[in-house]
Amino acid sequence: MDKTIIDLDIGNEIDWVPSYLAESAWLEHIPFAFWLMKTLKPRLLVELGTHWGVSYSAFCQSIEQLQLDSRSFAVDTWAGDEHAGYYGEEVFSSINILNQTHWRRFSSLLRMSFAEARQYFSDGEIDLLHIDGLHTYEAASDDFMLWKKTLSQYGVVLFHDINVRERGFGIWRLWQDLKNDYPHFEFSHGHGLGVLGVGQEFSAPLKTLFAASSCSVQAAKIRNLFAARGEGVQLRWDFRRVGLHLQKIEEEKNISNLTVRQLKEKAEILQSNFDSEINCLSKDLREARDNIAKDQIKISKMVESLEHQKLSLKINNDELES
Ligand SMILES: C[S@@+](CC[C@H](N)C(=O)[O-])C[C@H]1O[C@@H](n2cnc3c(N)ncnc32)[C@H](O)[C@@H]1O
Repeated sequence: MDKTIIDLDIGNEIDWVPSYLAESAWLEHIPFAFWLMKTLKPRLLVELGTHWGVSYSAFCQSIEQLQLDSRSFAVDTWAGDEHAGYYGEEVFSSINILNQTHWRRFSSLLRMSFAEARQYFSDGEIDLLHIDGLHTYEAASDDFMLWKKTLSQYGVVLFHDINVRERGFGIWRLWQDLKNDYPHFEFSHGHGLGVLGVGQEFSAPLKTLFAASSCSVQAAKIRNLFAARGEGVQLRWDFRRVGLHLQKIEEEKNISNLTVRQLKEKAEILQSNFDSEINCLSKDLREARDNIAKDQIKISKMVESLEHQKLSLKINNDELES
């Protein structure tokens, strides 16, 4: 095996099955997150921008599985922004349940702005900072400048979406500025992920990663390795999403079948009510016709009797006159 790959000390963590998946551009970085957590072992990690929690859950899963002595904080308003889109309370409810159920021993959710959260952290205490908020140049730059001092001597900062060049994203420009000043490595897959070594002391595997950045052959090998593993995670989610979609279609089909059955039963009841109503009306009509016929016979007999009486009267009159 290639020496650089050996020196990265990659183990089976890059093949772990993610315990939580949701829709996110971050899915493809989960294997790298597992590896980074193993090599960095952050005592304190802070994520700025969590949304459904795909990246955060990868960090938390690592803390659990590697039994790290870490504390982690997820900061988000859980209201959305112009790039992620604005969303409802269901997002916070979902991540809050996840956090309470699995990670509350070491993890806290801070529902507030990044600027408000800054006061709760001291300078030099964060080993891993993940910046994944609004992706304009100004917003990402403000986040970095505001939080930079919180980083420890082992400090690493992750920047997501450094490979997106549309919709007003400007974090790629910030990345270009920053990577000139710090050891770094960048991934292009999954919308791009920048790894910035802001501290001064790094583990040997991290040093290897940063050093590989200046060798395009080595860098490509590392990128390909993590991109392939990332694709596996993305496929796992796509497969589950298709399954969920099919399940929804099946449920809708069952509901439609039920509705059709109920409508059919209703139609049968209406038809039978209509038939018995028609039967009653036909019977009434028949009786009415019979009565009319009987009345007509009576009237004919009365007319006949009147004619008789008229004739008798005329005979009597004729006899009187003669
Ligand atoms: C791109 S999403 C995060 C994605 C997430 N890391 C993942 O793995 O899918 C960005 C999040 O940052 C939050 N956000 C953006 N700017 C913020 C700010 N200034 N303060 C707090 N939250 C912010 C939004 O609410 C949104 O949920």
